[in-house]
Amino acid sequence: MITDARALETTYVPQDLEHRDGQISQLATALQPITDGGSGDHTLIFGPSGSGKTTLAKFVVRKLRQEAFDVTRAYWNCMRGSSKTDVLHGFASDAKIGHHLPHDGTSASAFIQEFQRSDNHIVAIIDEVDVLEDEAILLGLGDLPNVTLVLIMIASGVNESRSPFT
Ligand SMILES: Nc1ncnc2c1ncn2[C@@H]1O[C@H](COP(=O)(O)OP(=O)(O)OP(=O)(O)O)[C@@H](O)[C@H]1O
Ligand SMILES: [Mg+2]
Repeated sequence: MITDARALETTYVPQDLEHRDGQISQLATALQPITDGGSGDHTLIFGPSGSGKTTLAKFVVRKLRQEAFDVTRAYWNCMRGSSKTDVLHGFASDAKIGHHLPHDGTSASAFIQEFQRSDNHIVAIIDEVDVLEDEAILLGLGDLPNVTLVLIMIASGVNESRSPFT
């Protein structure tokens, strides 16, 4: 549902994050189709440690959720667990989708089915994605029409966001 699509325009995003206007705008643009009921662009955010990658991702998704009420955030930091099930269970807990499913003994496909059944669009933030053990999960989730991935990883010497798939 759209209440005000202008919310994702650069000029309309509150400038609470200092010196990050360009990055906010890039990520907001990638996610903007979600406000029209479409899919966002899967996005990779990379930059040095402490440069504000996690803060930026959460900030932009929070703004998106304030304008599109059918958006759910699922956040997981792979440093807390890097297996396929760790990520999927972490998402389920954060998004409250399939969170009744136990961590142990639930197949990846059972979690993915729960996400797929969601009426909401899910913006799935995978932080510290470089330590993820099984990258196939990115395809399993990223192929769902109602899931948009925001991947975060450390890369020294650069500080920008871009789509990993273009
Ligand atoms: N635009 C900003 N202006 C001022 N402070 C910021 C900004 N963005 C983030 N911060 C602050 O800087 C610190 C680091 O931010 P954050 O944890 O998001 O960085 P990170 O790139 O994810 O780091 P890491 O790679 O170590 O996970 C936090 O305390 C955060 O509140
Ligand atoms: Mg971080």
